[in-house]
Amino acid sequence: MENEAKKIILSGIQPTGVFTLGNYLGAVRSWKQMQEDYNCYYFIADLHSLTIHIEPQKRRQQTREAFALLLACGIDPEKSLVFVQSHNKCHAEMGWIMDCCSQFGELSRMTQFKDKSAKHPDNINAGLFTYPALMAGDILLYQADYVPVGADQTQHLEFTRDVATRFNHAYGETFKLPEGYFPKAGARVMSLQDPTSKMSKSDTNPKATISILDDEKTILKKFKSAVTDSEACVRFDPEAKPGVSNLMTIYSAVTGKTMAEIEAEFAGKGYGDFKTVVGQAVADELRPIRENFARLMQDRAYLDEEMKKGAERATYIASKTLTKVKKRVGLLLEK
Ligand code: TYM
Repeated sequence: MENEAKKIILSGIQPTGVFTLGNYLGAVRSWKQMQEDYNCYYFIADLHSLTIHIEPQKRRQQTREAFALLLACGIDPEKSLVFVQSHNKCHAEMGWIMDCCSQFGELSRMTQFKDKSAKHPDNINAGLFTYPALMAGDILLYQADYVPVGADQTQHLEFTRDVATRFNHAYGETFKLPEGYFPKAGARVMSLQDPTSKMSKSDTNPKATISILDDEKTILKKFKSAVTDSEACVRFDPEAKPGVSNLMTIYSAVTGKTMAEIEAEFAGKGYGDFKTVVGQAVADELRPIRENFARLMQDRAYLDEEMKKGAERATYIASKTLTKVKKRVGLLLEK
């Protein structure tokens, strides 16, 4: 599975609910495509999810489901390393070291922190604030070359590079500087009901979000009620026509068609036809995932076994960097 000549890809996803079409088109789909050409490491970011309050039993269930969902989306544990973040203790340890290399000022500028604390004023915990330091640790532990994520993670990646540069400068060359890897289409999938905000698992309006386990009927219905505009013309213009442009982005990501091709395809046609075609394309793309997921959730022993194998390998790889980091900062290593 490991090939020294190949570059390293690393990414994670939080187990805070069934993945959305945004998670899929913005990230997970490209994770699958990268498996052949890179050494790929993918994990369920359960430690990150602790920044949000979820019932413990529900969190356990969602973590198992998220792991199964990754496999259902085509992440193959024979090709890629797939694991649960908290199963590799190096993440928590490295997170603390990264906390101590992060400045209050730079963490205060993170838009995700500002957004999330505005949304949950009753739970602005310290973990939410230092979240980017834990994420930097996740990436740097594996000496990742590329990090495939949606556009909303750009600032966290910049932060990771800043911390790595500072560490290398202070303690000597230790970390590779990772680069973001964003899909050409789908890096920012917007809500179907408010196309100026991103599609998010935590949206309280179920019509706003396509879950990757939604059935065909539900998907078609949600696309039918997607917010558009009154111009009745399929034209890509995210400023003036955010709703239609979002549907075009989704259609382009799923079919590979360019915006010009999509405009030509729907010239003279109404939004009704357009929405049905986009909904059907999405339903066709997601059907096999739904079927794979149902099958995988029946096989608990297989999931447990794959999680265990993933945890062992992840710990083996990450320990090498962690030991080096501990030496560099002057922690006395146990004999
Ligand atoms: P999370 O769980 O919020 O999202 C997982 C991935 O999905 C992408 N994404 C989207 N892409 C396009 N349109 C959308 N509407 C949309 N919503 C979400 C996200 O950009 C992400 O790539 N902090 C990360 C998890 C993480 C991580 C890491 C990622 C923890 N450590 C290390 C990479 C490397 C997060 O909360 O993703």
